[in-house]
Amino acid sequence: MKHPITYVLAILATLTMLASFSASVIADTYEGRKKCSSCHKAQAKSWRSTAHAKAMESLKPGEREEAKLMADLDPEKDYTKDKDCVGCHVDGWEQKGGYTIDRPKKQLAAVGCESCHGPGRKYRGDHRKGGQAFEKSGKTMPRKRLADRGQDFHFEEACNACHLNYEGSPWKDAKPPYTPYHPGVDEKYTFDFDKMVKDADAMHEHYKQDGAFVGEPKFKYHDEFQANAKETSKDDEDDDDDDEEDD
Ligand code: HEC
Ligand code: HEC
Ligand code: HEC
Ligand code: HEC
Repeated sequence: MKHPITYVLAILATLTMLASFSASVIADTYEGRKKCSSCHKAQAKSWRSTAHAKAMESLKPGEREEAKLMADLDPEKDYTKDKDCVGCHVDGWEQKGGYTIDRPKKQLAAVGCESCHGPGRKYRGDHRKGGQAFEKSGKTMPRKRLADRGQDFHFEEACNACHLNYEGSPWKDAKPPYTPYHPGVDEKYTFDFDKMVKDADAMHEHYKQDGAFVGEPKFKYHDEFQANAKETSKDDEDDDDDDEEDD
């Protein structure tokens, strides 16, 4: 018979393996924008008027005819189930919990919160805890904890994967399927991160935060955005035209 310690060690090893396995799986899990939107109503409302929110519409026949002709696309074709297109027009394409053509969840259609902020399943619970602790006793939570759970505070690589993914791109990780819209089609499709990320109409408007999360990694324009941020109004709190269904 083996010494009991061997069993204990084997069990421990298995548990450690399972724990790290589930941690990595959960870290990659997309959930869709409904959860984020229920707490961040003002940003969600503002996001809904951006081009990102309409990204799925653009793939429908009869939409953006001029732009499609410009890129040699067929304006009458339905591209909403085309795997060469959908990936950059949805959240978490073919990732755990993310959008797939076979299971097209409405909450993941279009370029939503998680496309920029990272898959939320694991960090959004900390937003709740961090917010509650701050409200109760003024206790802050380090951003590092959120980053360890998959929240993205840099953004640039996420944008690049969609905006700079074309042949001859300066972005070294470019690989097919490529975007049909790049500077070769028209200069207006040139992607300039620092300029575009500051365009509140394209991201969403920024609203004042209380400061529940502190420290690095802090987005490089965070303080600038907060200095110019809007106050959330009663109107935003009452906004329940978030009529999207959970599916
Ligand atoms: C249960 C409510 C809740 C949910 C759900 C939630 N958040 Fe938050 N979030 C908060 C609170 C509270 C704060 C801290 C606000 C403050 O300091 O005033 C916060 C802060 C943030 C911040 C600012 C972080 C920083 O650097 O300071 C971002 C970005 C954010 N949330 C995005 C999201 C996204 C994306 C989702 C969905 C995946 C999400 N949140 C889900 C409550 C929530
Ligand atoms: C998942 C892919 C994806 C990610 C990630 C993404 N975008 Fe986009 N972006 C798109 C698509 C698709 C459109 C076009 C939507 C439409 O018009 O149908 C777009 C449109 C835009 C526009 C509007 C262009 C115009 O003509 O008005 C800006 C600006 C922009 N993105 C900037 C950014 C920035 C900055 C980031 C990162 C913080 C980012 N995007 C992240 C896919 C993405
Ligand atoms: C690698 C990512 C990627 C792929 C793949 C992709 N797109 Fe996009 N698409 C984008 C981005 C990024 C934009 C925004 C470009 C901008 O405005 O700067 C965009 C914008 C668009 C627009 C709006 C253009 C305008 O000026 O109004 C249409 C229409 C569109 N895409 C259709 C398609 C179709 C159809 C396919 C498949 C044949 C496709 N896309 C594949 C990333 C992608
Ligand atoms: C195209 C990228 C993009 C998308 C899509 C996006 N955000 Fe953001 N968001 C940003 C950037 C950039 C910031 C600035 C981060 C900072 O200042 O630390 C930000 C900041 C925030 C903040 C901090 C407070 C503020 O207003 O600046 C919250 C909360 C937030 N986003 C929630 C959301 C929610 C909810 C969604 C989906 C409905 C969403 N975001 C979609 C890019 C995006």
